Amino acid sequence: MINRVRGTQDLLDLDLQDFILEQVKKHIQTYNFKHIQTPILEHTKLFIHSLGEQTDVVSKEMYVFPAENKEDSICLRPEATASVIRAYFENRVEEKPYKVFSFGSMFRKERPQKGRWREFTQLNFEIVNSDSVSQDVEFIKMLDSFFSEKLKLENYVLKLNFLGCLDDRKKHKEALNEYLEKFADKICPTCQKRKETNILRIFDCKSPECQKIYKDAPKLTDFLCSGCNSEWEELQETLQIISVNFILEPKLVRGLDYYNKVVFEFASSDLGAQDAFCGGGRYSLGKEVGSKENFPSIGAAIGLGRLLLLAENNLDNLNVTGKPALYLILPMSKKQHKLALLMADELRDNDYCTDVLLEGASIKSMMRKANKMGAKKVLILGDDEQENNTVTIKDMITGKSEVVKQAEAIKSL
Ligand code: HAM
Repeated sequence: MINRVRGTQDLLDLDLQDFILEQVKKHIQTYNFKHIQTPILEHTKLFIHSLGEQTDVVSKEMYVFPAENKEDSICLRPEATASVIRAYFENRVEEKPYKVFSFGSMFRKERPQKGRWREFTQLNFEIVNSDSVSQDVEFIKMLDSFFSEKLKLENYVLKLNFLGCLDDRKKHKEALNEYLEKFADKICPTCQKRKETNILRIFDCKSPECQKIYKDAPKLTDFLCSGCNSEWEELQETLQIISVNFILEPKLVRGLDYYNKVVFEFASSDLGAQDAFCGGGRYSLGKEVGSKENFPSIGAAIGLGRLLLLAENNLDNLNVTGKPALYLILPMSKKQHKLALLMADELRDNDYCTDVLLEGASIKSMMRKANKMGAKKVLILGDDEQENNTVTIKDMITGKSEVVKQAEAIKSL
């Protein structure tokens, strides 16, 4: 047997996923977002430059292949933000702000577990080239109302933190360095390296010993300049005014280097260890893809697999419309196949979900199959029907049958 690749999934029933995608598309339209798509293959350097070389994603989790040009390499995208900025700049998009939604597979070579896959789908939202705090608030509200109103989720929290500007992070870095001196030999080797190269990344460490040490580490929000501090306060105040609940999470730094100012995660204890089903924040990218300027932006991505786990527990509150009623045509022998195909065409032209049983079996076993397939009605075509231009229509719920003219078949459905 050939099994699927570790960390990938076969999704054999997409009704709920389709429902969520439909809801999200409707929701973002009400916020004037555009639906776009970027490639799955990108140049590896796009992510090295924008996510940062020291991040877990870039240093350990990328699927990289040699490119035609030996100097270069390409990879399966691990996330979508860098691609959106590349596309914005490369295609000389002039919209400002550029509000876009995209979705698709992302790839990270992580250790697979519940809610964590190597190929997973993200729903990605970006507002490129806008630096207003009110934009941040509206963006977070858009996500929150999608979860609470459209998907009727209740058991989740919004965690919020503020990473300030470069100067603030420089001051915080000095204090953090000083704090860590006391624990230099107690933190793990990876964190010792991170301390020297990219100190904020220590907070991504999964070791409980390291996390215990970082519990009392200096908080970034204690080092904000007056401009950043007033933005941070304004953001919290406006979120409260528009009724978005949140908790402050001083150690939330997110695992990618491009963030500044607000960062956030939506998490639910129903998910177990991988509890974040949406994460994002404000960032500034542009120079990394060759632009002379950076574009102040805000964005977030939902892990669709994790959101599905939450929605599955909440099906009673969702109006997930499954498959449409099935109309099944049963030709009794090969002689009636052509007639059956013509009739099926007519039903489909009238938007009926139609199938034809062409495997050649007894009426008894065809009826058994129709039952199993959950058909609403079957349309039987035998010698008599063919001769008399009729069709026998049986209602599989009431068990009642009627013989009608073929030309009247649609009307009697
Ligand atoms: P991220 O936090 O790396 O952010 O991923 C966002 C979400 O994708 C996570 O909260 C999680 O739900 C899901 N996710 C991540 N890795 C996996 C995995 N291995 N298996 C299943 N789900 C996963 C980003 O990717 C940023 N690009 C978000 C963003 C957009 N920031 C600004 N704009």
